[in-house]
Amino acid sequence: MPTSEPRIESLLAQMTLEEKVGQLNQMNARAGVDPDLLRAGHVGSLFNASGPLTGQGFSDSGGAELANQLQRLALEARLKIPLLFGRDVIHGFRTVFPIPLGQAAAFDPGLAQEAAVVAAREATAGGIKWTFAPMLDIARDPRWGRIAEGNGEDPLLGARLAEAIVRGLQGQRMSDPDKLVACAKHFAGYGTAEGGRDYESGELSDPTLRDVYLAPFESAVRAGVGTLMAAFVDLNGMPATANRYLLSDILRGEWGFDGFVVSDWESVGELVHHGLAADAAHAARLALHAGVDMDMVAGTYLDTLAGSVRAGLVPLAEVDDAVRRILRIKHRAGLFENPFTDPARAARDLLAPQARELARRFARESMVLLKNEADLLPLRDVRRVLVAGPFLHARGELFGTWTPDGRADDVVPLDQALRQAAPGGVALWFADYADQALHMTPAVDAVVLLMGEHPVRSGENCNVSDLGLPPGQAELLLAVAALGKPVVLVVFAGRPLVLTREVAQAQAVLYAWHPGLEGGAALGEVLFGLAAPGGRLPVTFPRATGQVPIYYNHKSSGRPIGSDPRFLTRYNDLIPAPFFPFGYGLAYTTFAYDNLRLSGDVLRGRLEISAEVTNSGPRAGREVVQLYVRDVVGSLTRPVRELKDFQALELGPGETRRVTFVLEEEQLAFTRADGTRGVEPGTFHVWVAPHSQGGLRGEFVMP
Ligand code: BGC
Repeated sequence: MPTSEPRIESLLAQMTLEEKVGQLNQMNARAGVDPDLLRAGHVGSLFNASGPLTGQGFSDSGGAELANQLQRLALEARLKIPLLFGRDVIHGFRTVFPIPLGQAAAFDPGLAQEAAVVAAREATAGGIKWTFAPMLDIARDPRWGRIAEGNGEDPLLGARLAEAIVRGLQGQRMSDPDKLVACAKHFAGYGTAEGGRDYESGELSDPTLRDVYLAPFESAVRAGVGTLMAAFVDLNGMPATANRYLLSDILRGEWGFDGFVVSDWESVGELVHHGLAADAAHAARLALHAGVDMDMVAGTYLDTLAGSVRAGLVPLAEVDDAVRRILRIKHRAGLFENPFTDPARAARDLLAPQARELARRFARESMVLLKNEADLLPLRDVRRVLVAGPFLHARGELFGTWTPDGRADDVVPLDQALRQAAPGGVALWFADYADQALHMTPAVDAVVLLMGEHPVRSGENCNVSDLGLPPGQAELLLAVAALGKPVVLVVFAGRPLVLTREVAQAQAVLYAWHPGLEGGAALGEVLFGLAAPGGRLPVTFPRATGQVPIYYNHKSSGRPIGSDPRFLTRYNDLIPAPFFPFGYGLAYTTFAYDNLRLSGDVLRGRLEISAEVTNSGPRAGREVVQLYVRDVVGSLTRPVRELKDFQALELGPGETRRVTFVLEEEQLAFTRADGTRGVEPGTFHVWVAPHSQGGLRGEFVMP
């Protein structure tokens, strides 16, 4: 029994049924806070008590002062159980980092961890102790707006980032004043929403659910994540909020998770809309029984559970277990010892210069160079550069989705940031209007077009049926390109867009995602060669919207590419390949791969796989070296490639380094038709590669 457990049991023994249900109840401070509910011990957690709660009689300063004021009310309750203050701190608090999909593109879990450390320090200074992050949903369909919030399509990259972010947010002890309780969400299978329409149902086979969609969550649980959030999705006919198989059998039974599960926003009551529950009381019973401990803002538990227990419809033991888990996390978070936040921290801890520097570095590392004809980038030998496009003056637009605490005022507008980065002797001309841009183009040496999606076009329920650039932008690019000057297209986006025509028209294309508050400075450094873009694609880029879902770790059809062209899997109107593959990205130099070596041709326990990587170009650069495997024959069909490891290297011009990966037998395990997980003997292909479609191929055998 952990040391806090006797205290939990003794509290539980003193609690009335209403006080117990109160712990399971999270309320939205924005919707009004009733002080009497707090004083009565009927609220376990408050949501969004960070900005000022104007007109409610509470501190108008928001932040720590407001949280302390509310906490004081909760501690007036008989048993003095502190509140847990929750908030969406998704990719930074006041210091906004690149969107999670952009962070994933850096292939640098260490950097993601550092950013999470900053987010936790800042958010806790604002009185928050619990964040609804990391978002760990695998996404194979970029129409789904929430692809922006996650780490892309790959389970291994997702798992590495999950662990790093949880460690960054929670630290060694989540009780430290500058650490948050993390919440891995949305459990699970949320990315399967049909047609890319958020909140829709999905279907997944059990092996794919476990090996792909659950992998990042399992990693978060192993890293000690304190909480999980149930997803909105109805998966295989059972909404996640009522899914006992997910929330109890797998999460607690198989993985040994002992923290608590929160519903998503009102998702308990929504079981009625799903057609699973007849009314709110029924919904609450189903959710609690499945393993949802806390009801986010709907009040469904508060309104119905005590009655259901008294009517004999809900075993008291189920309520007790949920209370135990919540109190356990409150103990681990140190709330009983330190329920208050020092209001002086905000001035010290928000937007520190080192945090901004980290955000800038992260933005540079997340940017992916997709094309660079004739080494147009970095811009050299230019005297006049025209900059145009809808992002020309962007500030808060650089943040991307889910940044309730970011402030546009903290951001240097993009045009100014570029001007600051431009070397002496380079004149930047700006054009706000298409006409102006066309008028100026003939007089400049190069044109930089800042295009892409406004943040309102990605994130929760911001789905699109067409993955092209928003209306009007392609026309401007076409018209400018027709004038014959070299064009650099910079794309800001929360998802992979379809850019087949645009990439043909521009000489250089840089994918910047939504890069956060230092995005402008980072872009300036990259365009003018003070730094290089470091990212690789964490998702496959399709050629057309109709090609989705498309992802690199798919199965082979019976008629794969290479078969008789009349019969291979294809569309009549499209090349059967991604536009840019997972893992792809150029540098300001080139890399050559050579001399693949395996420590043996049989894997017994482990195998070393290595290759030489040479910087064969003129500048220093970062390469993300990737290890892929294919299990050639399995008792279930296996993906054509699976990422098993990656290493990022910095190499000087002409420098060669041998990169060694160690592949453990366990990394080859998969879930089989009978539900068991294991490694099967046979031949495996292995690649050391710059992306998911290239590389040096070797072979080994599992005996
Ligand atoms: C989202 C969650 C989020 C919650 C609280 C929901 O609508 O699905 O990701 O954490 O709201 O804002």
